[in-house]
Amino acid sequence: MTFSALKASAILSASVAALAFASATHAAQPVLTLTPAPAQATPGQGTFALTARTRIFVAKGDVEARVVAGQLSDMLFKARGLKPAVVEGAPSAGEAAIALARGAVSSDKIEAYKVEIAPTGVVITAPKRAGLFYGAVSVWQLAVQDAAKGPAQLPAVGIDDAPRFAWRGFMLDSARHFQSVETIKSILDTMAAHKLNVLHWHLVDDQGWRLEIRKYPKLTSEGSWRVPAGAAGRDPKTGKPIRYQGFYTQDQVRELVAYAAARGITIVPEIEMPGHALAPLVAYPQYGMTKAPPRANMGDWGVFPYLYKPSDETFGFLNDILDEVMDLFPSEYIHVGGDEAVKDQWKASPEVQAQIQALGVKDEHGLQSWFIQRAEKHINSRGRRMIGWDEILEGGLAPNATVMSWRGVEGAVAAASQGHDAVLAPDSTLYMDRRQSASADEPPGRIKIVSLKDVYDFDAAPAALTQAQRAHILGLQANSFTEHMRTDERLEKMTFPRLIAVAENGWTPEAGRDWDSFAARLPAEIARMDVLGVAHDTVPYEPQATLRPADGGQVSVALASGLGLGEIRYTTDGKAPTKASSLYAAPLSVAPGKTVRTRTFLGDEPLGRVRDYPVSLLAAQTRNSHQLEICGNGINLSLEDDAPVSGPRAVFAVDLMNPCWVWKGADLSTALTLTARIGQVPFNFQIGADREKIPLRAPATPDGELEVRLDGCAGERIAAIPLGAAARGPALGTVGGRIPAEGGVHDLCLTFTAKSVEPTLVLDSVSLTAAGKSGEN
Ligand code: ACM
Repeated sequence: MTFSALKASAILSASVAALAFASATHAAQPVLTLTPAPAQATPGQGTFALTARTRIFVAKGDVEARVVAGQLSDMLFKARGLKPAVVEGAPSAGEAAIALARGAVSSDKIEAYKVEIAPTGVVITAPKRAGLFYGAVSVWQLAVQDAAKGPAQLPAVGIDDAPRFAWRGFMLDSARHFQSVETIKSILDTMAAHKLNVLHWHLVDDQGWRLEIRKYPKLTSEGSWRVPAGAAGRDPKTGKPIRYQGFYTQDQVRELVAYAAARGITIVPEIEMPGHALAPLVAYPQYGMTKAPPRANMGDWGVFPYLYKPSDETFGFLNDILDEVMDLFPSEYIHVGGDEAVKDQWKASPEVQAQIQALGVKDEHGLQSWFIQRAEKHINSRGRRMIGWDEILEGGLAPNATVMSWRGVEGAVAAASQGHDAVLAPDSTLYMDRRQSASADEPPGRIKIVSLKDVYDFDAAPAALTQAQRAHILGLQANSFTEHMRTDERLEKMTFPRLIAVAENGWTPEAGRDWDSFAARLPAEIARMDVLGVAHDTVPYEPQATLRPADGGQVSVALASGLGLGEIRYTTDGKAPTKASSLYAAPLSVAPGKTVRTRTFLGDEPLGRVRDYPVSLLAAQTRNSHQLEICGNGINLSLEDDAPVSGPRAVFAVDLMNPCWVWKGADLSTALTLTARIGQVPFNFQIGADREKIPLRAPATPDGELEVRLDGCAGERIAAIPLGAAARGPALGTVGGRIPAEGGVHDLCLTFTAKSVEPTLVLDSVSLTAAGKSGEN
């Protein structure tokens, strides 16, 4: 559809708006970069000039509008250095100003708003404060389409907008790793700028209790620290333990709740029960099933067996906690967790078994249901509603419960078919601890790739639901569980830009979502995230190089980006790649010694960083662990090393259930030298009896060997390279050995021998060079 055809149309469907306003294929047209894409948009003529003289007008006495106008002014100041004055009354004749007005809009949702942008002025109209705020956010977005300071031209447009879902959320795990208040504010700012409205705050888990509870001070004095596993937990100079710790004071929580509320965001706190409870039980073991739980939190990930005792005393404790929580958080919903409560401790307890009999519930699931219903009663008694992970369906759903569906969308389907509300938060698609591309440059996380497009394409209207049941879907959220997000920057990079795709999925009508349109808006989004000061992952846009030895001493360089967006441009003469540089179409043949400099361009805009790939024969003969194939599909991680304590650490691609890698297609027509960089990681994973399933191959030498097998891991062993000192201590080590000629091309399976999974030996990289030539240089 052409721009003029769009203009002729009074009201556009969102799909048309989204497609025509931001299509990479219509570069000459103005791009309406609003994200999430609005429900309806009608382009106008010309632009509105936002300048240092622009003022924002509100009606006299409209306090809420005045507050929103002040927020818009502050946001514009942060982004562009312009601080429009907020004035009560009406603009003077001929003054091109921004006005906030109360008035009717097409939708009765509280977030609904209209924006009219014309050269003569901007009018934001909404009946409710939430709508005024989102109208202001839309105006801000159109003023922030690049990271430049100073005046901006806003495209003329009429927007009539309201959200698809009421729950547009993000779950932040502050238990596994703890974030600063400033980081959380920055995330809240970025959420608000994309019309997200729920921060589900996972404050409590086995590894840490992060919320000050006045009545139970040991929850934070004892429950908020742990010693990280392995070398990360010891000062290498003194050998003393290093504590990882942190919690939020009630004053900080009140500050964040208010900060969020001012931006239209409700913080929903989560207090886990009856499992994921090690941290509170370290502090107060009397409410647990075992008299002797660990005396301190552990540095392990996974699912611990420690459960609360289902007793009146425990409910005295939990209700006291919930009371302080409800005093702090005014949210309608209180989250009680309920997930992954391994029932072994309840099964093994004669007292609990007698309680199951006495209560007349069927089994431990029935008891969990009873437990959750007791919590619900207390929450309901304070006029709040309970929400929990989908395990709260097991043994019978509490009468008024809302279900958060994480094991796929089945929990939501079950809840909706029982007439209960549900929020969609399925693993893997909405789990931000998954990698965004196959590149070794991605932050550590779970190996399975969930790309920006995967998140964008998530179907929030599952076919398994009838139309009536769909009304029970409150919305969706992304979850950032932070086991592998040790720093705030990593949390942000794993979360963004994917959370922006969740925002569009939650706001824009289903018919209006369009990946090409969303992708075309990414350069503006990148500028906005930069302006907001939130870190975001650019790796999936960037060209990744695969280097292979080629004929005549040359090296073949293949370039591809994870998301496949735009065009890849490159140089080999040392100059920075520009839009005018050579267009990449097929693998390049490059002489060793040169550097391939490459960048992705989307339309005229660069997308991601310049990537430099120095070309050498050794680089072509080397693969890092992410470029090898992982044999299994157990606990597949891009796992950070535990050393050094400070400074950069290696990141290994590994299946901890079967540490084994395959070099596909090794040319063994002549004998080769194999050189491997190896590391060792602590096995800090609570996986119960599954630990016994990890294959161990008996070592023949004291430190074990790197074994090489031909054509599959059950194939003939053609080398066993003793590890020696390289396997000792937390630092990376290098080992090398000879691989005999086998005639032709073969796959090589690489495994370690070891007496134990503690520590687990891992590959960092492998080189295959001509026999006698080491891969180390
Ligand atoms: C969860 O991922 N255990 C909710």
